Amino acid sequence: MEITKQDRAQIAKKILDGDYKSGIMCRFVTVDSGVGIKTYSYIGSRNAAYLRQQKAHALGLGPAVGKRFTLKYKNFWGEYDKLYCFVTQIARNIGRKRSDENIQRLKDALKKNKLEQAAEDLHFDNVGTVDGKMVCIDFIY
Ligand SMILES: Nc1ncnc2c1ncn2[C@@H]1O[C@H](COP(=O)(O)OP(=O)(O)O)[C@@H](O)[C@H]1O
Ligand SMILES: [Mg+2]
Repeated sequence: MEITKQDRAQIAKKILDGDYKSGIMCRFVTVDSGVGIKTYSYIGSRNAAYLRQQKAHALGLGPAVGKRFTLKYKNFWGEYDKLYCFVTQIARNIGRKRSDENIQRLKDALKKNKLEQAAEDLHFDNVGTVDGKMVCIDFIY
């Protein structure tokens, strides 16, 4: 998916309006029903999250990733802010209660593939489904 000028304006507006979901590292903005944007304050965090999610997706353990890009926008005080972003497939059913067995299975698969940080932070808000399959959505802390 290409990120158009209009998309950038829409993403920046949602960030400024507080229309996003977030934990500690990431602010997540929805673009449409299937596509979202993960935004980070530091380029290193964005790149680590992107590369790990890309690897997880190839293994069927995470959502697909799209392009990386930098979003520059004017903040509330009229100064420029920068966010480091990447496009992601949207996962469903995040935050739903899951069985210990299913969480453990996902944890083991992530660990086996050197995605330890994701494996260690598998609380319900970091787990969702893609095409009915349980996946991890958060790869850095
Ligand atoms: N791929 C995704 N699909 C749907 N929602 C997402 C996705 N990635 C993140 N989110 C939402 O954004 C929140 C924060 O993202 P997350 O990657 O967990 O960052 P943090 O490291 O800040 O916890 C998640 O709990 C979830 O609600
Ligand atoms: Mg999280």
